[in-house]
Amino acid sequence: MKEISGNTRLFGILADPIHHVKTPQRMNEHFAGISFDGVCVPFHVRPEGLAAAVEGLRRLENLGGVIVTIPHKTAILELVDDATPVARKIGAANVVRREADGRLVAHMLDGEGFVRGLQTAGVSLEGKSAYLAGAGGAANAIGFALVQAGVSRLTIANRTVSKAEDLKARILSLHPGAAIAIGTADPSGHELVVNGTSLGMKPDDALPLDAGRLTPDQLVCEVIMQPRDTALLLAAQARGCKVHYGAPMLACQIELMAQMLGVAGAE
Ligand SMILES: NC(=O)c1ccc[n+]([C@@H]2O[C@H](COP(=O)([O-])OP(=O)(O)OC[C@H]3O[C@@H](n4cnc5c(N)ncnc54)[C@H](OP(=O)(O)O)[C@@H]3O)[C@@H](O)[C@H]2O)c1
Repeated sequence: MKEISGNTRLFGILADPIHHVKTPQRMNEHFAGISFDGVCVPFHVRPEGLAAAVEGLRRLENLGGVIVTIPHKTAILELVDDATPVARKIGAANVVRREADGRLVAHMLDGEGFVRGLQTAGVSLEGKSAYLAGAGGAANAIGFALVQAGVSRLTIANRTVSKAEDLKARILSLHPGAAIAIGTADPSGHELVVNGTSLGMKPDDALPLDAGRLTPDQLVCEVIMQPRDTALLLAAQARGCKVHYGAPMLACQIELMAQMLGVAGAE
């Protein structure tokens, strides 16, 4: 890392708790890789302190922006001056750019990170049929990004069906021509199968979908990073499917975050 000086541009990550975050390490590696004079540091901010912290960020003239994670991804939208249409529709953001005049602009990159991860692995989404389990935060971002990336149709299945219906309606409001259906636990008939739920983090979790219906032509993808080999991915491999792990979704966001924060120009 370059020596921090009076010229160094500041970036941070807002989270509570903070100890587990990996973004500063990855972002600082990225800065070093492109010889960018910047530093990313952890900001431990509790929910009740978020508004005051964000107000303070506006006054930091050498701040490029912040990454936002749990539990602030939804609350941040109320505190910024502007947000991209997709972040507004998702109802959450994970990156905030500070403009030169102190205005704060929010965007959500989780879904784009997921799509970039697949593309980096050589998977093209254009024209593919996709099944998405879940309608929570991660699934929302992925649902919008899959449609944006050009899937031919998207099936959303969630335990709470009303949340899947709501996600479908919000995607359609941004992409009126999209082919979106509400599905069951059966993922058959889709080229791409994505677990966007939190099921699989704990050893005794149920599977997020009916793995007995998976077929060898399908690519099965995870959002869960820990464990790497979730029960779903193991079941998918046992049925002859290709798998895509949860880690690239985050790894591929570092470059996207840097671009959003205006760092890419240094490359
Ligand atoms: N790889 C990455 O970069 C990345 C980024 C963001 C998140 N994630 C991971 O994505 C996962 C989901 O996070 P999130 O923020 O989307 O969580 P969330 O907003 O709480 O959503 C959880 C989802 O899981 C479903 N679910 C939870 N327990 C269930 C159960 N017992 N049976 C059936 N469905 C269940 C929920 O269904 P209901 O709607 O019915 O409750 C909902 O669809 C987490 O593991 C998180 O670590 C990964």
